[in-house]
Amino acid sequence: MNLPQPAPATTRPAEVDLSVNVGTLSFKNPVIAASGTFGYGVEFADLVDLNRLGGIVVKGLSAEPMAGAASPRICDTASGMVNAIGLQNIGVRAFVAEKLPLLRRYNTHVIANVFGRTIEGYVEVVRVLEQSEGVAGYELNVSCPNVDKGGVEFGLDPGCLSSVVEAARRITARPIWVKLAPTVGFIGVMAKAAEGAGADALTIANTYPALCIDTHNRKSRLGSTTGGLSGPAIKPITVRLVYEACKAVSIPVVGLGGIETPEDSVEYLLSGASAVEVGTAHFVDPRASERLVEGLAKWCKANNIIRVSDLTGGFTGISGLPEGARN
Ligand SMILES: Cc1cc2nc3c(=O)[nH]c(=O)nc-3n(C[C@H](O)[C@H](O)[C@H](O)COP(=O)(O)O)c2cc1C
Repeated sequence: MNLPQPAPATTRPAEVDLSVNVGTLSFKNPVIAASGTFGYGVEFADLVDLNRLGGIVVKGLSAEPMAGAASPRICDTASGMVNAIGLQNIGVRAFVAEKLPLLRRYNTHVIANVFGRTIEGYVEVVRVLEQSEGVAGYELNVSCPNVDKGGVEFGLDPGCLSSVVEAARRITARPIWVKLAPTVGFIGVMAKAAEGAGADALTIANTYPALCIDTHNRKSRLGSTTGGLSGPAIKPITVRLVYEACKAVSIPVVGLGGIETPEDSVEYLLSGASAVEVGTAHFVDPRASERLVEGLAKWCKANNIIRVSDLTGGFTGISGLPEGARN
């Protein structure tokens, strides 16, 4: 006679819950492809399972197409790269007509990265996108020169920053993320300005202004002289910015800068970020963000983390030195 067998004594480890919320937007996991490093997403569809990603931030969109900077546009550094793409893009209308219909087929959030040379420039891009389904939210790139203010970047002046966020806020109910410039005196001031103007979240941060000189010809190694540094070199600097910003505001923060490994993303989460973006790592491996989703799940399992969202803000701050000590 076959008696019922007792259940095996071992219980299967619980699956890791990778889902996170950034304000009102729910993501299946916290890994988002960063603007400018993943095209318009669809170009990667043959290499990457886009459905696996928490989200995709598309290349920065302007009201009109832009040809971008002279080449060379990128150069390698010891621990990252410097780029001067010059915000080349197909323009918001071509994006809506050619890319968005393809992107809509995937089960991932599409965030539109938006920029302009004037406040009206930003507003026009948002206005065009408002008429289309399939955009989960906007990420305003405020590291752009404001032609109405003598070319000072929007993100370097709290007043200009507020004005551009308020203008976008007036015409959309979709989430607005503000992508802050990293080279500001006090990131908390800019974070508060964005929050006060109605931002739903902050993205921290963009690239760091940089210069690479060719010692043979004494010229810049980039076509447009200076560029922006990204990659592993910027990670500890930006993790601190996320930490400082999170102390200043109550809206969520999305962290990015130099993320390659699961541990890198965990550092950002611990410093206070609710989600992360992956940028330069795509230049080494186009599957970097997809691999990070798998890696993060494994890391959580190995470290007995059941919900990845529990990591956010888990940094304890104990280092043995008073905060701010560095030399
Ligand atoms: C080639 C390149 C193009 C980029 N283009 C944009 C852009 O259009 N809009 C934007 O907000 N950030 C842009 N960025 C900045 C990245 O989204 C990201 O903030 C930065 O590279 C830091 O992250 P990382 O170290 O993971 O690359 C670009 C970065 C690179 C390397």
